Amino acid sequence: MSMFSPIKIVEVGPRDGLQNEQQVWSTSDRIAFINTLSDCPFHEIEVGSFVSPKWIPQMAETDGVFKAVVQKPGILYSCLVPNEVGLRKAVEAKVKNISIFTAASEIFNQKNINCSIEESFNRFVPIMEAAKIHRLRVRGYVSCVIECPYTGAILPTQVAEVAARLYAMGCEEISLGDTIGKGTPATIHAMVDAVRQVVPVEKLAIHCHDTYGNAIENILVAIEAGVQVVDSAMGGLGGCPYAGSQAKGNVATETVVKTLRLKGYLPDFDMIALERASQFVGGRKTKAHRT
Ligand code: HMG
Ligand code: MG
Repeated sequence: MSMFSPIKIVEVGPRDGLQNEQQVWSTSDRIAFINTLSDCPFHEIEVGSFVSPKWIPQMAETDGVFKAVVQKPGILYSCLVPNEVGLRKAVEAKVKNISIFTAASEIFNQKNINCSIEESFNRFVPIMEAAKIHRLRVRGYVSCVIECPYTGAILPTQVAEVAARLYAMGCEEISLGDTIGKGTPATIHAMVDAVRQVVPVEKLAIHCHDTYGNAIENILVAIEAGVQVVDSAMGGLGGCPYAGSQAKGNVATETVVKTLRLKGYLPDFDMIALERASQFVGGRKTKAHRT
């Protein structure tokens, strides 16, 4: 990859951000947020997830949000789907891009989706079959690619194994999640290096939480290793509800865009639209404080 190839940004704020905000955003605020984000040249916007509202109340009403959002050509609008129930709801809402998710850690998977890694792959089989029938694009997530909040360090080989299985099943992109932000440039490099041996590097995305302020450095290391897709959340919203207080927030889209632009990776990004979307989150946070 040339040093100055454009990088694709996947905006995960409306899903990974809002799923962990204590204040549940109203459906209309979620829709307005996504419509504001759509003015930015994102590759993909994660609209929400079709998970159990008992587990994640913030993501209830994702079908209503998805149906109301004004989709801009050129942007993929996607939703997380954990099982066949979620898949059915996604198809009913006419979602065309779904993401399935598992982890490189057994314990994290139990806490997050109530099943083992093996069981998660069993759940994915009918999802992938239905995805083919409905011509859905499927992205696969691997969580805990550096550390698990419950069991500590994860080996790069464990991540590579899970990523390879997702790719072999038909996932078009594999997002590598440093769920609790424990990655360093050295560990991120070792992890990406192991994964790119088994999945083409152009199929990989890096998904950093910024718990310890390493996210930007880690993203740059992943890009230097050939990764071309970066996940981030406007305003650094969110975290992961099953990673305890350790997942303090996604890396902020504003920081990612500004840094990558300075380095020449995002020459044409509309900075005015970025600022507007950033202000939307800022305004909404102020409103939440007042209520
Ligand atoms: P379960 O309780 O094991 O599921 O949950 P179940 O099949 O036994 O069903 C129990 C009840 O849930 C039933 O209802 C089902 O109908 C219902 P009841 O009979 O009790 O009334 N149900 C559903 N309802 C709505 N949508 C569904 C659904 N499935 C079952 N899809 C389940 C299993 C996966 C559903 C649950 O554990 C869950 O929803 N977990 C939420 C996981 C989640 O959203 N985590 C955050 C996203 S992952 C993440 O943030 C990491 C990432 O960002 C990358 C990184 O940073 O590392 C991607
Ligand atoms: Mg995440």
